Amino acid sequence: MLAEDAPAPPDWGNPPAVRVAVVATGTIGRSWIVAFARAGCRVAAWDPNGNCLADAVAWARAQLPRAAADRVIPCERLAACAAGADYLQENGPERLDAKQAIYRALTEVAAPRALLASSTSTLDITDISALVSTEDQARCVVAHPVNPPHVVPVVELLGGRGTSAATVEAAARFLTAVGQRPVRLTRYVPGFLLNRLQAALVREAVHLVATGVARVDDVDAVISDGLGLRWALMGPFGVANTNADGGAREYFTRYGSSFQRLWSDLANDVRLTPDLIERIGREVDAMYPAVSRERLRAWRDEMVTALRQTRTPADP
Ligand SMILES: NC(=O)c1ccc[n+]([C@@H]2O[C@H](COP(=O)([O-])OP(=O)(O)OC[C@H]3O[C@@H](n4cnc5c(N)ncnc54)[C@H](O)[C@@H]3O)[C@@H](O)[C@H]2O)c1
Repeated sequence: MLAEDAPAPPDWGNPPAVRVAVVATGTIGRSWIVAFARAGCRVAAWDPNGNCLADAVAWARAQLPRAAADRVIPCERLAACAAGADYLQENGPERLDAKQAIYRALTEVAAPRALLASSTSTLDITDISALVSTEDQARCVVAHPVNPPHVVPVVELLGGRGTSAATVEAAARFLTAVGQRPVRLTRYVPGFLLNRLQAALVREAVHLVATGVARVDDVDAVISDGLGLRWALMGPFGVANTNADGGAREYFTRYGSSFQRLWSDLANDVRLTPDLIERIGREVDAMYPAVSRERLRAWRDEMVTALRQTRTPADP
C-alpha cells in the first residue's frame, strides 16, 4: 500500500492541478500528450530518441489550442521529465525487458507518491514491476489506451499482484477527470478486454473471406453500416437489452440456443497465410483506390470525434 504518512495526492478531479510525465513519445505517447494537455495538465515529455521527442511535441502542439500547447514541456532527461510529476504514463517498446528497465528507472526518479501507469497492450504489470520494491509495486498500474487515446476514450485499467487498490482507484479518477473512460479488469488476461473482443470478431471476418463466403468490402460493411452503428452507442449487452421487448433476459433466453449453435460453428483455426494476407491487401486497396492512408486516418479520427460530440447530448 502507499505509505500513509506520504504527502497528500493531488486533486485528481482537477486536471490543471495534476502534473503529468509522458515517458516515450511514439504513436501512443504523443497522443497521450494531447489528451493530458487538452484537459489542463502540465505535461512533461521525454523520449530517448531526441528526433522522436521533437516530432511528437511539434505534432502534439499542432493539435492543441495555444494555451494548451504551452503546457507541453519537452525534457532532455528522464529525471527532469519525472521531477514533480504526480502521474507518469509510460509508452516504451512492448518488450518485457524494456518495460522492466523503464520501471526501474522510473522508480529512481519519480516522486514517491507518483502513479506509474503503463500503456502496455499485452504484458502483465506483475511481470513489468517484478524488479522494483514491494512499496513501488503498489503504485504500478496498467492504463492501456485505444489508439489514439486523444480521440478514443476507453482505457483498460488493471493492477498486478503488488498494486494497491488505492492506485487503481486514483488512476481511474484521474483518467475520468481528463475525459477518458476507464474500464477495470479484476485480473490479467491476455489481450485484456478490447483486444480479446476484437480478435474474436477479426478471426471470424478473416475466416469468412478466406473461405469465399463474402468479399472484404461486404464484411466491412456489415460492421460500418450494420452492427457498428449500434455498437457506437451500446455494447452487446446493451443491444441485447433493446433487441427484445423483455430486455436482456428475454433476449438471451430466446436466442440462447441460436448463439450456442453458431458458437460451435465459428472458426477456431484461422491461418493468416502470405497468400491470404495478399488477397486481403488487394481487396482493401480496391476499397480506397484514390485516398492516402494519412487522409483516411485523419478522416477516421475527425469522424470519431464528431460522432462522440453528437452522441453525448442525446444520451438517454
Ligand atoms: N500503437 C498502438 O496501437 C498501441 C495501442 C495501445 C497501446 N500501445 C502500447 O503503447 C506502447 C508504445 O507503443 P507505440 O505504438 O507508441 O510504439 P512506438 O514504437 O511508436 O513508440 C515507442 C517509443 O519508445 C521509445 N523507446 C525506445 N526504447 C526506449 C527505452 N529503452 N526507454 C524508453 N523509451 C524507449 C522510442 O524512441 C519510441 O518513441 C507499447 O507498450 C504498446 O503496446 C500501442
